[in-house]
Amino acid sequence: MIKRAAADLAAARFGVALTGAGISVESGIPPFRGKGGLWEKIDPMEFAHIDNFMRNPAKVWRVLVGEMKGVIDTAEPNDAHKGLSTMERLGLIRTIITQNVDGLHQAAGSTDVIEFHGNFAWQRCMDCDHMLETRKVDMRQMPPRCHCGGIYRPDCVFFGEMIPPQHLARSRQVATQCDVMLVVGTSAVVQPAAFMPVIAKENGAKVIEINPEPTPLTSAVSDYLVQGKAGEVMSRIVAEIQAQHVSAKPFSP
Ligand code: APR
Repeated sequence: MIKRAAADLAAARFGVALTGAGISVESGIPPFRGKGGLWEKIDPMEFAHIDNFMRNPAKVWRVLVGEMKGVIDTAEPNDAHKGLSTMERLGLIRTIITQNVDGLHQAAGSTDVIEFHGNFAWQRCMDCDHMLETRKVDMRQMPPRCHCGGIYRPDCVFFGEMIPPQHLARSRQVATQCDVMLVVGTSAVVQPAAFMPVIAKENGAKVIEINPEPTPLTSAVSDYLVQGKAGEVMSRIVAEIQAQHVSAKPFSP
């Protein structure tokens, strides 16, 4: 499977990756669903729905944002993020569509990242739109407020909110154009992100999944699943691609 994925990716003319929380698990960020997931600890409708944030921002700040801030502030990219950035340098992956808000793809050096659900690295004042880096937020005041008195909110998409139209449009466009889509660490149950591999497949792309578990895409959409942890699998795929590149080089004395 590693060799097969390496060969398919090495042949890609327009590779796109779709990533989810699973890619950041080896960086110490828990996923949302499944064992140890954030939604096991807290109810997403109570803490991650925009209506409840508007009703009681201090409560959501204390629990959801506080919980995520502590983990994301210190997380570092792992071999899976680094592998995707290496594949960009090799010209094999052009764009990453990520559902993650942790900024780890950019930290690993990927330059074309569509943040489908926004970014948690920044907070936006709901009154004057002033942006503040999350790591600079003073958690002693709840909810944190801007100098204008407005309340800061994470610059990411809550349940009940629209995907930013420009992110949705670009994601659909690259999903339509790609010839290989690599789907890493997503349960593929949240729409419209989970529809991107369907668009890719309908337009003739090969869809490769990396995940320790099968997902709804596995039997219905994906060409195959490389079963395992993202960091471990990606570093083996990248090593295989690099070995193929070296052996394909013409001999020069
Ligand atoms: N490597 C790769 N995949 C992993 C790993 C790992 N080390 N560990 C777990 N996974 C897989 C799980 O098997 C699961 O399929 O990652 C997936 C995580 O699924 P979710 O927690 O549902 O995350 P995601 O698909 O990104 O969720 C989508 O839901 O609540 C929202 O807004 C949130 O963007 C998020 C969206």
